[in-house]
Amino acid sequence: MGLADRFPKRAPVAVKGAEARAEAMKDLVFGREFTDHMARAIYTDGVGWHSHELTAYGPLVLSPATNALHYAQEIFEGLKAYRHADGSVWAFRPQKNAERFQRSARRLAMAEMPVDDFLGSIEAVVQADHEWVPSVPDSSLYLRPFAFGSEPFLGVHPSSEITYLLIASPVGPYFATGYGPVSIWVTREYNRAAPGGTGAAKTGGNYAASLLPTNEAYANGCQQVCFLDAATDTLLEELGGMNMMLVLDDGSVATPRLTGTILEGVTRDSVLTLLREDGIAVAERDISIDELTDGIRSGRIREVFACGTAAVITPIGRLASKDFDITVGDGQPGALTTELYNHLTDIQFGRAEDVHGWLYPLVP
Ligand SMILES: Cc1ncc(COP(=O)(O)O)c(C=O)c1O
Repeated sequence: MGLADRFPKRAPVAVKGAEARAEAMKDLVFGREFTDHMARAIYTDGVGWHSHELTAYGPLVLSPATNALHYAQEIFEGLKAYRHADGSVWAFRPQKNAERFQRSARRLAMAEMPVDDFLGSIEAVVQADHEWVPSVPDSSLYLRPFAFGSEPFLGVHPSSEITYLLIASPVGPYFATGYGPVSIWVTREYNRAAPGGTGAAKTGGNYAASLLPTNEAYANGCQQVCFLDAATDTLLEELGGMNMMLVLDDGSVATPRLTGTILEGVTRDSVLTLLREDGIAVAERDISIDELTDGIRSGRIREVFACGTAAVITPIGRLASKDFDITVGDGQPGALTTELYNHLTDIQFGRAEDVHGWLYPLVP
């Protein structure tokens, strides 16, 4: 703590009154309402990072020639601030997000933000907007740090100016139905990322590319899309916004290895750590779509779940594609899946001891 001073308030910010805030936080939908403040910093070639400030959340004025609007030089992160029963507010492993933000920046030829600036922007916004951190169960303040090439110039080259912003949104459960099984559509038509591409970076283009296949998923009664690898079209990669794991009948867990085409999830790493500590064998390896479908049919694969910051752990009850439609087990959340969901959310909400030092204090 103590890094918030890196983002000073240079001008007064008008804040919503308690009534307007309560109204905004009544029916929390993911990512629709925003708090009073945002953090900003600018990087300029030859100068470095400068003009850090805590300012009012509000519209940006951009030149129509802004790099990111044309060539998508853009990266982002997603993490949450959780309110504990005693009123204190904590982030979950934000240093991991800071490091991934730096890796994403390198891949997109952008300036890396120092870890302490990244953490400072989180502290500044959450401390200023602490009343926006909800306390109803399974709700939190979603934090969205992002940076984009803001130079107004139509040449295809790395932007000489980068704008960093952090905005915050009070959120309820990611899936309106809360914790419960979802249906996944495995697309055979589209891929998310190719070897040598930007799959391991958290950059908007990956998500733009996932929208059409996600529509395909919706049209087939599924909530998320699952991608196979672009090189062979046989290996399981990840969902549009979550990593994937399988629980086998010998009690072990398997998850696709980090090939450079999938995102290295903070939740994925946390789940693998908890499993290994519980003495559960974990394999990060290639998993073919045939192994997955045959294994679900034969009972060799007992549980399938997705993991990511937005929904933490999501049981997968059904997998469908143009050539199969199968139910995982009895279609209900598996025992290990539910145990992991409870374990992780208990740590995040301060109900279980944080033996790893994963919680980062934001507001006492
Ligand atoms: C494509 C993709 N994979 C995986 C994840 C899970 O990452 P994390 O656990 O860090 O949220 C996300 C979400 O951020 C994602 O967008």
